[in-house]
Amino acid sequence: MADLKKIAVSGKGGVGKTTLSALLAHVFVERGREVIAIDADPAGGLAEALGFPPELRAQVTPVSELEDLIYERTGAQPGTFGGFFSLNPRVDDIPDRFSISHNGIRFLRLGTIESGGSGCICPESAMLKALVTHLLLYNQEMLVLDMEAGVEHLGRATAQAVDAFLVVVEPGRRSLATAAAVRTLAADIGIVRVYGVGNKVSSDAEWDFLQKESPVPLLGYLSTNPELLEADMYGRSVFASAPRAAEEARKIVDALEAL
Ligand SMILES: Nc1ncnc2c1ncn2[C@@H]1O[C@H](COP(=O)(O)OP(=O)(O)O)[C@@H](O)[C@H]1O
Ligand SMILES: [Mg+2]
Repeated sequence: MADLKKIAVSGKGGVGKTTLSALLAHVFVERGREVIAIDADPAGGLAEALGFPPELRAQVTPVSELEDLIYERTGAQPGTFGGFFSLNPRVDDIPDRFSISHNGIRFLRLGTIESGGSGCICPESAMLKALVTHLLLYNQEMLVLDMEAGVEHLGRATAQAVDAFLVVVEPGRRSLATAAAVRTLAADIGIVRVYGVGNKVSSDAEWDFLQKESPVPLLGYLSTNPELLEADMYGRSVFASAPRAAEEARKIVDALEAL
């Protein structure tokens, strides 16, 4: 892909989305790109996986918790439903104001929408959706979006801006079923460039299984790697802690760039 700019990572909980997102972000930095990594999963953890030091992480307020700003920009108090509020709030200053940077990677956390969950029409969700749209359409940095298993925050209008929608799969039926569901959700909003990445692959047989059963074409895989687990235990950079995984991630980026 000549002009690879925006990548979203999805998949079943615990499958390795955050691990893969962090590795990819570092590979892009290594290749001279300016990278913004967005934690869009309420479960969080991307800043840790990227190796952001605790003092810096402590400075991050998830965008969904910027109550005064949400009120100012949408005209409605977060946590409220109905009534009138702007679906198109100003967000262009948010990446600069609320991101932290470390080792060439800018980081922003979207946070959780408490009231209503998926599809909720509330000021917070309007704000997050506008922000993701802005990042996808008007931000020039290489973007890595660590998401949930859905397509939340992505709308039809912005779907076309996603260059590659990655779904992490592990050898097992449940993650493959999630991948199939994600592919359908993505297709519903017009995303066709959906690719899989295998994770926690321990043998050739498992990789063969994934290649045979995956509902989406696979770009590569990360091996089962105790160094990744250890990095998670101690909140260390996965890229720095697991050289083999870093090398596997480079191959995945090669495959992306070759698309
Ligand atoms: N290839 C791997 N080998 C071993 N452990 C892994 C691997 N990939 C991820 N893990 C571990 O699995 C857990 C879930 O990974 P994570 O990236 O947080 O998943 P997700 O973001 O999809 O919930 C973490 O403890 C992580 O360290
Ligand atoms: Mg995660």
